[in-house]
Amino acid sequence: MRILGIETSCDETAAAVVVDGKTILADVVATQFELHAAYGGIVPELASRRHQENILPVIRAALRDSGFSLEDIDGLAVTQGPGLIGALIIGFAVAKSLAYALNIPIVGVHHLRAHILAAFLEDPAPAFPFIALVVSGGHTNLYHVTSFQEMTLLGRSRDDAAGEAFDKVAKIMGLGYPGGIAIEALAATGGDPRALALPRPKIDREPLTFSFSGLKTAVAYILKNHPEILNSSSHPRAADLAASFQEAVVDCLVSRALGAIQQNNCSRLVVAGGVAANRRLRQALLTQTSEAGVELFLPSPSRCTDNAAMVATLGYHLLQAGERLDLNGDVFARG
Ligand code: KG4
Ligand code: ZN
Repeated sequence: MRILGIETSCDETAAAVVVDGKTILADVVATQFELHAAYGGIVPELASRRHQENILPVIRAALRDSGFSLEDIDGLAVTQGPGLIGALIIGFAVAKSLAYALNIPIVGVHHLRAHILAAFLEDPAPAFPFIALVVSGGHTNLYHVTSFQEMTLLGRSRDDAAGEAFDKVAKIMGLGYPGGIAIEALAATGGDPRALALPRPKIDREPLTFSFSGLKTAVAYILKNHPEILNSSSHPRAADLAASFQEAVVDCLVSRALGAIQQNNCSRLVVAGGVAANRRLRQALLTQTSEAGVELFLPSPSRCTDNAAMVATLGYHLLQAGERLDLNGDVFARG
């Protein structure tokens, strides 16, 4: 079954053609980094307009790469939410129109659940049940996953998402957008992760709840009291601050993920979403899951960030299970 996946939930316009939820024939992503960089974050109105310009060329490129035409597509999968409403609507309207015109089945896909499915595009794919940690720009969610349709939320962030914390700290440090990549690159220039003592915020009696806003505030205070850190000749250096911040986020993520594993008596962990592209996080996960005897499934870095192959993959399994999108259905911002 050839599925055309469409993703426009945030600042990436993406289309992919995936066969039977496994074989990627095409995977096209048009990013908008340069458009939003000047503002230090995503400007929703600009994102929508750029999706509008990009969506048809991106779909055309995906079909061309796949070697098939629209008439050869058996089903459509489109991100329905959560995300920016004005951005989601573009992909959603195009996907519904295509499904109607081609008279083929269509299914709406939950963006965070789709991130988890990126692990099914790798070999080996995880077996059910498993714990999934989705770390993106808008969410930090832990799920207990027992099937393609049953994913129970175990914990999430009570304030900022991990990716959001990376982006905000990068902005405070004047590193630009997107922040995660900038912090990782700066930390990798010999930054000492133990140079600055940063908190690992915990919530009483909620061991699987994350909190990152205090961490961001701690960085802001350090820079307020010691602005010289951003000068290249200082000690500690900006690279030390970046590495210390990154280490604190990594500690919080890995400890909660392993906590969820233990609490649910699971032996498999999937970690996905944009922040899962972070090399220090991947390294810490590899070491600590191996010590704990947990099987780790990490999508390749390019499939951790937003893409439509993951959307097509989840779409395939949902269509197989009989799920269909009501053409009167709407997108959703949260959930
Ligand atoms: O999943 P994603 O591409 O989009 C959303 O669904 O939000 O995640 C984007 C987030 C951004 O906050 C970005 O700074 C972060 O993922 N990110 C990273 C890295 N690459 C992307 N964070 C840390 N290290 C990275 N290498
Ligand atoms: Zn995402």
